[in-house]
Amino acid sequence: MANTNIIAIDGPAGAGKGTLTKKLCEHYGFAGLDTGSLYRAITLCMIEMEQNMDDINLEFAIALTQKLSDTHKILEYAKNPKIRSQLTNKYVASVAKIPEIRTIMRKYQIDFGTNPPDLPDGRKAKGAVIEGRDIGTVICPNAPVKFFITASPETRASRRLKEYLDQGESASYQEVLASIIARDEADRTRATSPMKQADDAIVINTSENSKEQTFEVAKKIIDERLHITFD
Ligand code: DC
Repeated sequence: MANTNIIAIDGPAGAGKGTLTKKLCEHYGFAGLDTGSLYRAITLCMIEMEQNMDDINLEFAIALTQKLSDTHKILEYAKNPKIRSQLTNKYVASVAKIPEIRTIMRKYQIDFGTNPPDLPDGRKAKGAVIEGRDIGTVICPNAPVKFFITASPETRASRRLKEYLDQGESASYQEVLASIIARDEADRTRATSPMKQADDAIVINTSENSKEQTFEVAKKIIDERLHITFD
């Protein structure tokens, strides 16, 4: 039977979607999909294949995306820490805005939601948490729980800067802030599936929240709407 326990999480970069997704998956025994990592994986693969990222060869990009998704190699690439490098960041929005790539990724994400993979420890997943920009609006418009996670650009820039420094990359706060603002704008204004809050999404602003507080707010809502049994 197709899974209907789907939690859709959208919001801008660095707002805390990934942390919340991880905590929810651990708590409820759900499988998690970071859809941004899929676009990042395609971008990284293209960079490594020495594609001209300033003038993307559309035919090549589409064929590559289809191959990566058909073979599930996309998930392997998505585990590479280089998907979060500044170089991948620079180009990912131009890959994510290609409609043909989004169509292939849409099918991939819907399949994940309706038939989530087993958990890393072999247990059957009881549901799916899918996070991205258009999950509540385009990918899973019927999801029973939708969150829009946000935070101020300054808070998000500080979080991203820490990630870069932790990875040993050098970066300045001002550069990271400028890149976050530019990427928000690109995500919000692109023609295909722009970042948008679903009408029925619950907004959580994480600027002043600890990770635990955000989790507790989300958990309360999920417990009211989904009836997950714990073994
Ligand atoms: O969430 P993130 O920063 O890892 O996302 C990387 C890029 O992919 C970002 O430019 C937004 C884009 N993206 C998208 O267009 N649709 C999604 N569902 C997820 C991410």
